[in-house]
Amino acid sequence: MRVLMVCLGNICRSPMAEGWLIHKAKQYGIAVVTDSAGTASYHIGEKPDQRMRKHALSYGISLENLRARQFNVEDFDRFDVIFAMDKSNFQNILKLARNMHDKEKVKLYLNELYPNTDKEVPDPYYGEAQGFDDVIQLLELATEAFLKNQKLI
Ligand code: 4NP
Repeated sequence: MRVLMVCLGNICRSPMAEGWLIHKAKQYGIAVVTDSAGTASYHIGEKPDQRMRKHALSYGISLENLRARQFNVEDFDRFDVIFAMDKSNFQNILKLARNMHDKEKVKLYLNELYPNTDKEVPDPYYGEAQGFDDVIQLLELATEAFLKNQKLI
């Protein structure tokens, strides 16, 4: 399966979601292709936010090799599932969809953990350190839920 994680800047939430999926896939011996992207262009080419990198390391996850890129229409062909971290990203991805097949690939990530509730991963960018930890813990639960929903674990 090919899974793309998407947020706004591709420096906080989606790289962390990608980091968890890589980590869990390795841990459980599952073959997944994963990547992340942002709907915005502000941070193209940058490493994930240094606060997120630091917090991720405390969970044993290195985000050092990731670089931000912007979501583009070819991602609909390159991935089977496209997970948006919040409703604004979700809508912005849908605007680029070419057809129903593209649209059906786009989902809110937290619906894996809390089905049919349309909850959002909060953006930690302008907040305190605790916000990064909270997001990391939430994304771990969502990643486990996704793999369980796919019957991969
Ligand atoms: P992300 O967080 O979407 O989780 O990567 C943000 C990163 C940067 C900005 C906003 C959110 N920004 O406005 O630059």
